[in-house]
Amino acid sequence: MVRSIGVLDSGIGGLTVVKEIVKSLPNENIIYLGDTARVPYGTRGKDVITQFALEMVDFLLSKDVKFLVVACNTISAVCLDKIIAVSPVPVLGVIDPTVDHALKTSKSKRIGVIGTRATIGSGIYETEIKQKDNKAQVVVASCPLFVPIAEEGLGDHPGTRLIAKDYLSIFKDQDVDTLILGCTHYPLLSNTIKEVLGENITLVDSAKPAAETLEVMLQEKGLLNNGSLSGKLEIHVTDAPQRVQIIAEQFLGDPLPGGLKEVVLANL
Ligand code: DGL
Repeated sequence: MVRSIGVLDSGIGGLTVVKEIVKSLPNENIIYLGDTARVPYGTRGKDVITQFALEMVDFLLSKDVKFLVVACNTISAVCLDKIIAVSPVPVLGVIDPTVDHALKTSKSKRIGVIGTRATIGSGIYETEIKQKDNKAQVVVASCPLFVPIAEEGLGDHPGTRLIAKDYLSIFKDQDVDTLILGCTHYPLLSNTIKEVLGENITLVDSAKPAAETLEVMLQEKGLLNNGSLSGKLEIHVTDAPQRVQIIAEQFLGDPLPGGLKEVVLANL
């Protein structure tokens, strides 16, 4: 039995990370869990986010996964340490790889970060960027409505442009050359964000950097699946109305292979 990589997110945004993992590691089996019944997490407090995240981790560990990818900036920011503490398998959060990628991308080292309230409130991006480059300047903004907008599939809606203009106005005079989309839902708003900020700012999201780091870690730990068969992707969610299925396909950029499987977590 080939063991799977477990991937978790508060909703379906983490499928942007899954898409990149499938591209770079096509032989790996993946079990994804999105807590669609309780998304968004980013407006909640630390204890609640931690409790929800640990319930998802329990579910994935019960599937005997060989590795956990926390495809959610909010969970990575708030309780990655707690997940690492309980997990018998290696864990990768998205923040470290995203910061490394942004520092490589930025020439001016003036970096903007947008994320949920919980991620921005944790200060983790400023801390990690400055730890890695103490001359870097960081400008942050939380964009709490972007997650429900992405989950509703309204990334390109004219109303979204108005909200984005307001949230992103802080970056206009800050001379940042790189903007971290510090939430795995935000790539679904990339077009709108680019339109609002213009061509001179490069957007960096968590998907590719996380997939690249995952490959390196699997290799280092001797966990890569070297078989020649295509991997299987199983997608579990905690609530699966038809809308979720449609939007999940937009996030993944492909029809869902086996549809969505519904899971009930302990405290739902
Ligand atoms: N995809 C999650 C993140 O990366 C969204 C968090 C939320 O549920 O608010 O932060």
